[in-house]
Amino acid sequence: MIFLNFKTYESGTGKNAVLMANKVQDVSKETGVKIIPVVQPSDIKEIVSTTSIEIWAQKIDPVTYGAHTGSILAEGVFEDGAVGTVLNHSENRFVDFETLSKAHLRAKEVGLKTLIFTKDIEEMEKALEIKPDFVSYEPPALIGSKDVSVATSQPEIISKAVLISKNSGVPLIVGAGIHSQKDISISLSLGATGVAVASDVMLSSDPKRELLELVEGFK
Ligand code: G3P
Repeated sequence: MIFLNFKTYESGTGKNAVLMANKVQDVSKETGVKIIPVVQPSDIKEIVSTTSIEIWAQKIDPVTYGAHTGSILAEGVFEDGAVGTVLNHSENRFVDFETLSKAHLRAKEVGLKTLIFTKDIEEMEKALEIKPDFVSYEPPALIGSKDVSVATSQPEIISKAVLISKNSGVPLIVGAGIHSQKDISISLSLGATGVAVASDVMLSSDPKRELLELVEGFK
C-alpha cells in the first residue's frame, strides 16, 4: 500500500486535490494496489464525494467540541468522510508524546484509523505503546530528497523497525525520499507493509505515470 501525502502542494490543494485523488483512484483500481490520498482537511468532503477509495486526513488536534479556534476536530474530518488520519508528521509534529496520545485517542473515539509518523526508532517504540493502526518510520533529513531514499540509505534501520513493529503487531510504513519502484521493492523485501510518498508524485508533471511506475515495485 501507498500513503500519498498531498501536503500543501499546489497539485494537492482545492480543485487540484480532487483531480489528483481521481488519478490516484484510477491507478489504484487499474493495478489493485491500495493507494490512500492523505489530504488537507478542507478538501476531504469534496474528494470523498467524487471518489470511492479511502481518504485520510493529514492531522487532527487533541480537542473535543468547544472553544478551540483553528483546531482540527476529529468529528469534523470523520463527518466529511475521512476513514483515517495521520498524526505527528515531521512537518507538523505534536509538542510532546502526551499531546500525540490525546490526539490519537480522539481519532479512535470517533472511529478513525491512524498512522503515526516517527522520526527515529526511539520515537517509534514510544508510539507503538498507543497501538496505532500503522506506524511510519520517516527520517526527517531525507524527506523531499530527490535522489536518496530511506530504503537505499538506511536498510538496516528499516529491518530493525520492522522487527520492533512486528512485535507490537503494527504494520510498518516507510517514507522519505521514496521515488522509484526499487525503493518500494527494497522496503517490502525488508518487511515493510507499504510506503509513504509525497514529492515524487505531487511535483511530477505526470503524476499518474509516476504512480504507475511506483506500483511496479509491488509486483
Ligand atoms: O508523508 C510522506 C512524506 O513526508 C515523504 O515525503 O517528499 O520524501 O516523499 P517525500
